[in-house]
Amino acid sequence: MSQVRPVCVREYENIAKNILPRSAWDYYASGAEEMLTVQDNMDAYSRIRLRPRVLVDVSKIDLKTKVMGHTIQNPICVSPSAMQRMAHDAGEKATARACAKMRTCMILSSWSTTSLEDVDTAGREVSDDPSLAKRDLPSPTRWFQLYVYKDRDTTLNLVKRAEKAGYQALVVTVDTPYLGRRLADIRNKFTLPPHLTLANLEAHGKGEKSLMGPVDLTEYSGGAAKRAPGQTNTSGLAAYVVDQTDASLTWEAIHWLRANTSMPIIVKGVMTAEDARLALENKVDGIMVSNHGGRQLDGALSTIEALPEIVEAVNGKVDVFIDGGVRRGTDIFKALALGAKACFLGRPVLWALTYKGEEGVQEMMQLLEDEFKLCMALSVGKVVDEG
Ligand code: FNR
Repeated sequence: MSQVRPVCVREYENIAKNILPRSAWDYYASGAEEMLTVQDNMDAYSRIRLRPRVLVDVSKIDLKTKVMGHTIQNPICVSPSAMQRMAHDAGEKATARACAKMRTCMILSSWSTTSLEDVDTAGREVSDDPSLAKRDLPSPTRWFQLYVYKDRDTTLNLVKRAEKAGYQALVVTVDTPYLGRRLADIRNKFTLPPHLTLANLEAHGKGEKSLMGPVDLTEYSGGAAKRAPGQTNTSGLAAYVVDQTDASLTWEAIHWLRANTSMPIIVKGVMTAEDARLALENKVDGIMVSNHGGRQLDGALSTIEALPEIVEAVNGKVDVFIDGGVRRGTDIFKALALGAKACFLGRPVLWALTYKGEEGVQEMMQLLEDEFKLCMALSVGKVVDEG
């Protein structure tokens, strides 16, 4: 397929829309209800204006920064998004390789279509590549995103496996006691294509049993009411969430996880100063300002608008990260200027994967790095805190 190489992130979106089957496109694109928050995540960046300074030497710009104590090449990282093999057969492995090459951080979803062990191996193969080692770049960073299951043994199994595989932090998603109402997915009765599975929940390792039988979302599609009482008009995935994950989660879960893992804990989905203060009281190690890309509570404020009050409440005690609506180098600059340690990308990664797998993701991330660097040069130079 001959494609003109995209020159901005938006163009990856257009290409992906033309390639992906309808149900996969809808799943990736959709947000909750009227998608007000999906749109606002992006619009809010456009409302912020920059105050450029001049006659500053910007001939050398260093983009390196530290996240949770690990140096990465630039503050442009990958948020967890489920089911990446719908975009490209190499799915999460391709993303891991691209992030390893970019020497930046990837968060793997609990609901990946490749096992966390296989994703880690794919990333490590790249990290060990001698030609990259010569470039004097720090080694890549991989974190594991956790959905807490009602069955704590299942949850613990995921945590222990992530720890054993060498993931360096646990990102606990706290904004999903139930899945938001994503209208296109409800209409499509969204479920995974039959050749794919939620691989982390499948049997892994010799002689081990599957954690909860084969994870077949089709069981939840259409027959949702049977498996998940009270959820009559819903997608297969939403019914799965009602049935399997823990809607009774409180800050207690953070203490339980703390007692069960040595990995630092980041909570993903904090949107207010009140919750940021509670997160600190409950001894989290990092905070991701996120509204799940507008897929949960429609009408929630945009993440870039939420960021300043959270940064103020946290007062430098832990790293604060952000995702949602980041599509341009200038967005990254604005988020960092308002106190985020790094920006994370959700949908752009899925679009780039659809376009050209590992190469597509690497290209897209390089494009954003170039845009970000240019923005730094044209505005003030050095904003990245290397501390
Ligand atoms: C997500 N997101 C998500 N978050 C999470 O904690 N676990 C997950 O498995 C998923 N899965 C997922 C699938 C898809 C298709 C999307 C679009 C998003 C949310 C994701 O981590 C992130 O918060 C948003 O995607 C960021 O917004 P943008 O960059 O997509 O606007």
